[in-house]
Amino acid sequence: TFVIGAACVDVMDRACVDECPVDCIYVGERMAYINPDECIDCSACEPVCPVEAIATVEELAPEDAPFVTENARFFSEPLPGRTEPLGSPGGAADVGPIGVDTPFVQSYVAP
Ligand code: F3S
Ligand code: F3S
Repeated sequence: TFVIGAACVDVMDRACVDECPVDCIYVGERMAYINPDECIDCSACEPVCPVEAIATVEELAPEDAPFVTENARFFSEPLPGRTEPLGSPGGAADVGPIGVDTPFVQSYVAP
């Protein structure tokens, strides 16, 4: 499973969004999130990120460990201001920018 880590926060370049063949990278407010149920592990997103924010769970830097949970939580729990979880919409372009982050990412401060 590929995950987007802390380096994306407040950068959100979105090159990865354009690259993903199944359109499973969703845009929040400060960062983007990979839907773990929709990602087919093709790895196309990994090399295009200018800040190298994307890695597999296994290769992720230890300090990025919380972002594994946040990538999943973005879809599995209702986001701030919403009553239903996003779930698996089946394509980021169809739903458009989500415009909100998980509470952890909302208050994230880089170390
Ligand atoms: Fe973020 Fe890199 Fe994608 S900065 S939006 S993970 S290209
Ligand atoms: Fe898309 Fe990257 Fe997964 S390109 S399918 S999010 S590995």
